[in-house]
Amino acid sequence: MDRNLALNLARVTEAAALGAAKHMGRGDKHIADQAAVDGMRNMFDTLNIDGVVVIGEGEMDEAPMLYIGERIGTASEGAPQVDIAVDPLDGTNSVAKGLPNAISVVAIAPRGALLHAPDMYMDKIAVGPKAKGVIDLNAPVQENLLRVAKALNKNITDLTVTMLDRERHEGIIKECRKVGARIKLFKDGDVGAAIATCFDHTGIDIMLGIGGAPEGVIAAAALKCLGGEFQGRLVPYTDEERERCAKMGVDVHKVFLLDDLVKGNEVFFAATGISDGDLLKGVTYYGNNMAKTHSVVMRAETGTIRFIEAIHRLDKKPAYAK
Ligand code: FBP
Repeated sequence: MDRNLALNLARVTEAAALGAAKHMGRGDKHIADQAAVDGMRNMFDTLNIDGVVVIGEGEMDEAPMLYIGERIGTASEGAPQVDIAVDPLDGTNSVAKGLPNAISVVAIAPRGALLHAPDMYMDKIAVGPKAKGVIDLNAPVQENLLRVAKALNKNITDLTVTMLDRERHEGIIKECRKVGARIKLFKDGDVGAAIATCFDHTGIDIMLGIGGAPEGVIAAAALKCLGGEFQGRLVPYTDEERERCAKMGVDVHKVFLLDDLVKGNEVFFAATGISDGDLLKGVTYYGNNMAKTHSVVMRAETGTIRFIEAIHRLDKKPAYAK
């Protein structure tokens, strides 16, 4: 894949973020999501790729755009054949309510490299590069925390664990408290939270808990670029979901390691903040029809991480000004 494609991915997530951010606090998560999808889809049309959405907005009959299996890109001569994983708006409720941590994300890898994760829950553990190699999703929570604290040369009482603020995490929270670790709960957006483990300035050391499986694959793509570690196990709650796993030939006890979720090292990832978060600032609007976005673009092959601050003249981009 041409390395410049990675930079173009920032345009894709910027377009989605600019679309969604307009709807911040308006109480309608569907409109915000649709605006993100429209922005992302339009920008994808300008890329010379022969892409297939493997993680998207849903099955073809549920989503008109960016559905699983949709072909994306101009596919002109020489276009790379790629798998695409998108979440145009991770944190739909956050945007609707004007809460933090909403981002737009996309990952691209050669065809067949990304796990086609079903739309169900996944139990996850994520850490940054310094704690790579010490975590095990099958091990008790306390053991993982102690191992990560040791790898980071931190007192366990200084270790910060983050997870979605959900009732289902009561057990994990108890375990964290038993060893004295600090806990930072967040309302939505576990892709950004997993990525935050890789950046010292966020103060986040480990992410635990159950969130969406598609978001798990996208987070894994980012952590591969960042040299972190991510493990996940599907959590089918209903008979239908269990059947789905069986049809896919997926053992529900299987722990997916980073290389199972994202094969190889040719992975590009981009994210743009929609509302302010630990990692990225959200979209800021200025006078004279201008808006600023903050994005991050990464490539696994070289490990380069680029933070991009962009000023957009919305009057020159009528599609964003709606
Ligand atoms: P949406 O933007 O699709 O609502 O997802 C937000 C999110 O917080 C994800 O980041 C996370 O993986 C998932 O929801 C958790 O699901 P639930 O809200 O059902 O606990």
